[in-house]
Amino acid sequence: MSDVTMARPATAGEIVVEAHDLQRFYDVGGGMFGKPGVVRALNGVSFSLEAGKTLAIVGESGCGKSTLARLVTMIEAPTAGSLLIDGEPVTASSASLRRKMQIVFQNPYGSLNPRQKVGAILEEPLKINTSDDAATRKRKAFEMMDRVGLRTEHYERYPHMFSGGQRQRIAIARALMLNPKILVLDEPVSALDVSIQAQVLNILMDLQRELGLAYLFISHDLSVVRHIANDIMVMYLGKPVEYGTAEDVFAAPRHPYTAALLSATPIADPAHKKHRIRLSGELPSPLAPPRGCGFNPRCWKAGDDCRRDEPPLHRDGAQAFACFHPLTESDRRME
Ligand SMILES: Nc1ncnc2c1ncn2[C@@H]1O[C@H](COP(=O)(O)OP(=O)(O)O)[C@@H](O)[C@H]1O
Ligand SMILES: [Mg+2]
Repeated sequence: MSDVTMARPATAGEIVVEAHDLQRFYDVGGGMFGKPGVVRALNGVSFSLEAGKTLAIVGESGCGKSTLARLVTMIEAPTAGSLLIDGEPVTASSASLRRKMQIVFQNPYGSLNPRQKVGAILEEPLKINTSDDAATRKRKAFEMMDRVGLRTEHYERYPHMFSGGQRQRIAIARALMLNPKILVLDEPVSALDVSIQAQVLNILMDLQRELGLAYLFISHDLSVVRHIANDIMVMYLGKPVEYGTAEDVFAAPRHPYTAALLSATPIADPAHKKHRIRLSGELPSPLAPPRGCGFNPRCWKAGDDCRRDEPPLHRDGAQAFACFHPLTESDRRME
């Protein structure tokens, strides 16, 4: 059972998202020898997220991050498991919950209508969902543009006239027009230059402070989430392998996969020498996951137990990890 909702660090905030053993399977035709198969894109994920906080979901491409984003934003229904938004269970008829939850995608080129000016893009959610008159909509659009660092003259411009970073500001502004409590950010800065990434991350952190937003922040890159995340969940083949505070996960990773991801992450402090862990082998196909621990074919610590049984998510204080041979302090000193 991978229900670690209770394993998260204890703080007093209001919980705005609670996921219990979320699963999403896809039937596909491309199994062994072209036979139908089942992709277990998300295979049991539990977490909770508080108002004003950021939970980062990190893992390699294909580990199920965007699938999780689609479930949490109610774009798709889970195969199994349950989800509570703002304390209310999500069902097919949870239309009112949708407004509390907005999503920002990696690629703002695809998500902004090229034929709409910025003003129309920002006002559209108000037009559809509120009875605001034109003057009110315009005022709210200008307020939001100011918050994300767009200038008044941008109101009349089309998306193609902006840089990638500015376009992502427009997408963030649009997501905030209906005053959501929660933003799901699916690789929001992965398509941007590193110098621009920091600007967008800073805007997101300012908005969070000002508006008390909760972020589910998805990234394949641990270094991106270092300053923005309160908690981190590392995923592998549709499952969490480690879950804890950002401080603990960065300072003392317990799962070998987390350590491997961290060792691939550039760090600012050159005094902190690191041994680079190289992962051998490919990410296994989620159509045919290995027996036992999904990470065992690539793991330097794997034993027969890991090839036979799947390690459950084990809790140690505020940190949880799914590993029979977790890293210890002396492992980390040797690295
Ligand atoms: N609609 C779908 N049909 C079949 N397989 C899918 C579908 N969506 C995602 N998958 C598969 O599920 C796995 C997880 O995908 P995804 O959630 O996009 O991962 P990530 O965002 O971490 O890269 C991948 O193997 C992907 O190919
Ligand atoms: Mg993705």
